[in-house]
Amino acid sequence: MNRTDLTPTPTLREVLRACEASLREAGVDTPELDARLLVQHALGMRREDLLIQALKRLTPPMVERVFGFVGRRAAREPVSRILGRREFWSMDFTLDASTLDPRPDTETLVEAALALVPDRGAALSILDLGTGTGCILLALLGELPRARGLGIDVQAAAVATADANARRLGFASRAGFRQGDWAAGLEERFDVVLSNPPYIPDADIPTLEPEVAAHDPRAALAGGPDGLDAYRRLAPQVAAVLKPGGHFVFEVGAGQVPAVTEIFTASGLVVDGTRHDLGRVERCVFGRAAA
Ligand SMILES: C[S@@+](CC[C@H](N)C(=O)[O-])C[C@H]1O[C@@H](n2cnc3c(N)ncnc32)[C@H](O)[C@@H]1O
Repeated sequence: MNRTDLTPTPTLREVLRACEASLREAGVDTPELDARLLVQHALGMRREDLLIQALKRLTPPMVERVFGFVGRRAAREPVSRILGRREFWSMDFTLDASTLDPRPDTETLVEAALALVPDRGAALSILDLGTGTGCILLALLGELPRARGLGIDVQAAAVATADANARRLGFASRAGFRQGDWAAGLEERFDVVLSNPPYIPDADIPTLEPEVAAHDPRAALAGGPDGLDAYRRLAPQVAAVLKPGGHFVFEVGAGQVPAVTEIFTASGLVVDGTRHDLGRVERCVFGRAAA
């Protein structure tokens, strides 16, 4: 059933089917799931309401609201951006036009950092460079009850969003956020420094899925001609802000481990290993400041 087949007051079930059909036609990978999430969001319903109220008739304004969201998804805006939220490390993050849509792959950094911390009750200091929504830092603070952290982003709007996430999730007293150019000008030293910097080679950006190329901010993606510009700028800064014996954990793009290792080693950092994501891609590099 398509939208054009609907009566002015269709049932919830009919609307759901028509939404699925529109999304399938637009080439969306998961039309059933996305239709369900968007209908729930548009109508303020829980998942079970879609079954319980399947025969409920919707008013024309309700139908309009549903198809407003479905139209955006059919134009390949991600569901997370339409909903304005994304789950990361089982926590709920608000996102906006200034922030990357947090990816499950990035949870690999949180796992790697936790594996490097021998005592989860320690009063560690954590620095997250290019914090976006604040997801990496706040996920770690959730696991390390006495840790404190600073998140830095070049975009003022991302800093405000990360700060709002910290407050809503109950971390305001342990997390601070600041606008800055990576770690330039920082005088503090940290036990753990993390970053998921932009690492897509500039020329590859137009070839990415429209959900990414047209909706993630360019500052979160563009890594320069070979994708490695941010690592070159970050390596000496990380060496300067790590405490002796402190650890770093960096996300990398597929196939970037050798180049990033070389860049970090040239700045005097010691690379101890890598960690794979669920897709078996070497997704992060970790190591420490030289003794
Ligand atoms: C790949 S996104 C990662 C966002 C978030 N940490 C995450 O994993 O979802 C890279 C982030 O680096 C920020 N960024 C880019 N250049 C920067 C710079 N010179 N200084 C600080 N942050 C920067 C971008 O604004 C973006 O938020």
